[in-house]
Amino acid sequence: MLALNYRGPSRLRVSQKPEPSIEHPNDAIVRVTRACICGSDLHLYHGLVPDTRVGMTFGHEFTGIVEEVGRTVSSLKPGDSVLVPFNVFCGTCFFCQRELYGNCHDTNPYATALGGAFGYSATAGNYDGGQAEYVRVPLADVGPTKLPPDMDLDDAVLLTDALPTGYQAAEMAGIKEGDTVVVFGAGPIGIFAAKSAWLMGAGRVIVVDGVDYRLEFVRRYAKVETVNFHEIDDITVHLKKLCDGLGPDACIDAVGAEADGSWFHRITGVFLKIQAGAPTALQWAINSVRKGGTISIVGVYGPTLNMVPIGNAMNKGLTLRMNQASVKRHLPKLIEHIQAGRIDPKQIITHRVPLEEAAEAYHIFSNKLDGCIKTILIPPSLQH
Ligand SMILES: NC(=O)c1ccc[n+]([C@@H]2O[C@H](COP(=O)([O-])OP(=O)(O)OC[C@H]3O[C@@H](n4cnc5c(N)ncnc54)[C@H](O)[C@@H]3O)[C@@H](O)[C@H]2O)c1
Ligand SMILES: [Zn+2]
Ligand SMILES: [Zn+2]
Repeated sequence: MLALNYRGPSRLRVSQKPEPSIEHPNDAIVRVTRACICGSDLHLYHGLVPDTRVGMTFGHEFTGIVEEVGRTVSSLKPGDSVLVPFNVFCGTCFFCQRELYGNCHDTNPYATALGGAFGYSATAGNYDGGQAEYVRVPLADVGPTKLPPDMDLDDAVLLTDALPTGYQAAEMAGIKEGDTVVVFGAGPIGIFAAKSAWLMGAGRVIVVDGVDYRLEFVRRYAKVETVNFHEIDDITVHLKKLCDGLGPDACIDAVGAEADGSWFHRITGVFLKIQAGAPTALQWAINSVRKGGTISIVGVYGPTLNMVPIGNAMNKGLTLRMNQASVKRHLPKLIEHIQAGRIDPKQIITHRVPLEEAAEAYHIFSNKLDGCIKTILIPPSLQH
């Protein structure tokens, strides 16, 4: 089958790989119908995620048709159309019982802090992902969700990560009626966090990024105010001024380890790797939020950062919440929001690219060329 094949930092190839097969009685083999590229894939692509092994197929956001199931699978049958949450989770461990599916304790033999995820290096369990024609889906009775009959595939694939993650970011921000929320990052996650902040009762939503076309998009799509940090001398002072001199009630970090905006963080965190990424957006969030406010972090970081102003967070009495998203927990509510027309996820898709051209698609997304916000890879069988 055709599959994305990681050859080393910034080197991807689409090549033939053996088709996956059932390895465990609760596996399913899924024929991929849509696979997205995510901001998280860029961390892999840029060589920032430890133990990303040559030969791995990325892709944790995919939909597909069930092709084959193992003998114990009872909830799916061949022919079912499914969306597959990015988390690989068991559904029964201590954490899954508490719906912390992103923190499953039983699906990642390589690390204790992190649950399993498709296509996300050995650090996340070494599961091959969906940027391929076929993918093996373990725990097939737990993760995959059958598509509601009227669900558009483009909407469905955005339910595997981007929309639930943005939604959880807003949820963790603890928004109360009328609150002012600042979202750092106008990528797919920040865009959906901003949209979700309104659904949760925010009175004012401001999105910060450094890329104009993304700010333009989020202004239109989520009806928010925007700030381009490149045009501002001191972003934390600016945000405080915008919010009665006190600062916003909550800040969301939807940027993560590869933030721009501080040459010092980029050199230490991205190029020299002496800290686990550039914590610039997180620093801005902590310093701008009002005292007693909440910080919600969904941007991905490596394990150890040493430049986070944790003393400021302590003295300001902040609540810090963060996590990998637990996708499945949010699906019922988000499906309802989509069906009621309160949110139209597929509008963020700017690029549809044949799977064969995935390497170029990564280049375009990574360099923010061509107005790119979200790319879907289409496998050969569905290209017309
Ligand atoms: N917690 C989870 O479960 C989860 C799930 C999906 C993605 N993520 C993470 O969320 C983050 C965003 O993902 P995405 O797909 O939207 O990525 P993306 O790369 O498309 O978007 C990131 C945006 O942040 C902007 N940015 C850079 N520096 C900034 C700064 N200092 N202040 C404000 N904006 C800045 C960039 O210009 C870009 O538009 C990534 O770190 C990704 O790994 C987390
Ligand atoms: Zn993702
Ligand atoms: Zn579990």
